[in-house]
Amino acid sequence: MWSWFLPILGVLVLARGSSGGRLCAPLNFGQSSVVCQCNATYCDTLDPIVVPSVGNFSVYETSQSGKRLQVTSGTFTKRQPSPMDLVLTLNDKKKFQTIKGFGGAVTDSAALNILSLSDETKENLLRSYFSEEGIGYNILRVPMGSCDFSTRIYTYLDTEGDFSMKTFSLQVEDTKLKIPLIQKAKELSNRSISLFASPWTSPPWMKTNGAITGKGTLKGKPGDQYHKTWANYFIR
Ligand SMILES: *[C@@H]1O[C@H](CO)[C@@H](O)[C@H](O)[C@H]1NC(C)=O
Ligand SMILES: *[C@@H]1O[C@H](CO)[C@@H](O)[C@H](O)[C@H]1NC(C)=O
Ligand SMILES: *[C@@H]1O[C@H](CO)[C@@H](O)[C@H](O)[C@H]1NC(C)=O
Repeated sequence: MWSWFLPILGVLVLARGSSGGRLCAPLNFGQSSVVCQCNATYCDTLDPIVVPSVGNFSVYETSQSGKRLQVTSGTFTKRQPSPMDLVLTLNDKKKFQTIKGFGGAVTDSAALNILSLSDETKENLLRSYFSEEGIGYNILRVPMGSCDFSTRIYTYLDTEGDFSMKTFSLQVEDTKLKIPLIQKAKELSNRSISLFASPWTSPPWMKTNGAITGKGTLKGKPGDQYHKTWANYFIR
């Protein structure tokens, strides 16, 4: 949880030195900013978040030139307000939306690429995403079946007319790519990871256009065998 305190008469005084986190190793691809280079031997890290004691503050700074959540800290001082002051008031009683978290998608191509890295680089990359020394992702979107980031087209029920779902099956992309990656993410994370699963399409034989892409809808009407099978597909 974040907590804010309210030093109303404060001015920010000089920031103290920087943290023990490893800095971004900036790499410029000629775009508007840089990326941080992570490889087998080096990856930037963040210090675990520590809420400063009352009277102190932390500043997290990200810049175009390569700072990435670089932390410095300092102390508020009290003095008489002056008309020149910039006053920042934080009201920690008034709450708006709840943020469930941040995350990314475990597509077939993400998994293929990540799992093709050397063990050390893969470890560094996944720690950057999921661990406490990284950005702590806690939500993963998981495509049910293939999507536009797959190397082939498949669903979990490709046998035409199999309403009893006898042939329902996860595919090698699930068992060998996405699930191992999700398990590794859970292992590296200090919090529970939520999965948000969604299909790109139903099996094409259930659709009016008989195809994965293009304009088509589920055949029939709500309550019929197509709709019931599609609902059961989600449950499975
Ligand atoms: C790994 O990244 C660090 C930091 O950018 C760099 O100094 C080092 O040369 C890189 N190692 C390899 C093998 O590319
Ligand atoms: C702020 O942090 C410094 C250094 O960690 C510490 O010595 C000081 O007591 C802190 N100030 C307050 C008001 O807690
Ligand atoms: C998070 O996990 C790391 C390593 O698994 C552990 O060292 C650390 O104490 C944990 N932090 C919290 C806040 O649970």
